[in-house]
Amino acid sequence: MTSNVASERPATEPLLTVEGARVGYEVDGQVQIAVENVSFDIRPGENVMLLGPSGCGKSTLLKTIAGFIEPYGGTVRVSGRTDLSPGPDRAVVFQEFDQLFPWHTVEGNLVYPLRVNGRSKQEARSVARDYLQLMNLVHAADRYPHQLSGGMKQRVAIARAMALEPLMLLMDEPFGALDAQTRSRLQRELKEVAERTKVTILFVTHSIQEAVFVGRRVVVLSPPPSTVREVVDVSGLDDPTSPEFVAALRHLRSLLTEGDESPDDMAFE
Ligand SMILES: Nc1ncnc2c1ncn2[C@@H]1O[C@H](COP(=O)(O)OP(=O)(O)OP(=O)(O)O)[C@@H](O)[C@H]1O
Ligand SMILES: [Mg+2]
Repeated sequence: MTSNVASERPATEPLLTVEGARVGYEVDGQVQIAVENVSFDIRPGENVMLLGPSGCGKSTLLKTIAGFIEPYGGTVRVSGRTDLSPGPDRAVVFQEFDQLFPWHTVEGNLVYPLRVNGRSKQEARSVARDYLQLMNLVHAADRYPHQLSGGMKQRVAIARAMALEPLMLLMDEPFGALDAQTRSRLQRELKEVAERTKVTILFVTHSIQEAVFVGRRVVVLSPPPSTVREVVDVSGLDDPTSPEFVAALRHLRSLLTEGDESPDDMAFE
C-alpha cells in the first residue's frame, strides 16, 4: 500500500503561526513569565479555541497576537508577518459588556471604526448594515448600548469586529459574562456565522463545553508558566448529547486536570 503523505498535509498555509512563544510581564523590575513555551497554528477559516485554567496566560497570548504585548521569546506570525503592531486585521472582542462606545448608537458603533479605517460615510453605513443583518441586529440599529441586554451588546461587539473584515477575529471569553441560556444561543449563532462567512477565529475560553461546541481544534494549555498539553481535533462535533461529543469533553477534562492532585471539577464546566 502506498502512502501519499503530500495529500495528508493541509492544502493551505497557516494564517497564524505561534512558535515557542514566551510571554510575561515586568513586575517591580522582575520579569514574571506567564506563557513559557507555546506553539500552534491556525489555518484560514478555522475556529481554534484556547482552553486552560485561570491565570495560564490565555488573555496574555491573545494580546500578544493582537500586538498589545511583545513576547520575550519565540515568534508570532500573521500571514507571514512578524511586525504585529495592533491593526484592524486582527479585530478583538472582549468579555466586558462596556466595550461599546456608549455615545454611539448600535449602527454608529459599527460605522465609527470603519470611518477611522478610511471608508467613506456611505460605504461605512452600507457595510455596517450588512453586518447588523448578519448578527440579527437591524431592529436595534438606532438604540444606544445602555438600551441593550448583555447578549445584544456582545452581538454588537462581534458585528463591529466582523465589519472590519479582519484576517482574524480574536475573542477573549466573549460569552463569559452571559447567563447560560443566552450563552448557548450566542455559541450557536457564532458557529453559524463563522461557517457562513469563513472568518478565522481564535477564541479563548475556560469552558470545555464551549470549546468542543464552537471550535474545530482546541489548544489545551497547562497551568502557568504554560505550555501546550495537546491540540485536540473537535471538528464536526455539534450534538452535545452524542457519544463523540461526550468523549471529547471527557478527554479535555482529563488533559486539564492532568497532574492535579485535587482536581476541582467545578473549575471546568
Ligand atoms: N498587566 C499585567 N501585569 C502583570 N501581570 C499580569 C498582567 N496581566 C496578567 N498578568 C499575569 O499573567 C498571568 C496570566 O494572566 P492571563 O490574564 O493571561 O490569564 P488567563 O489565562 O487569561 O486567565 P483567566 O482565565 O482568569 O482570564 C497571571 O498570573 C496574571 O496575574
Ligand atoms: Mg483571561
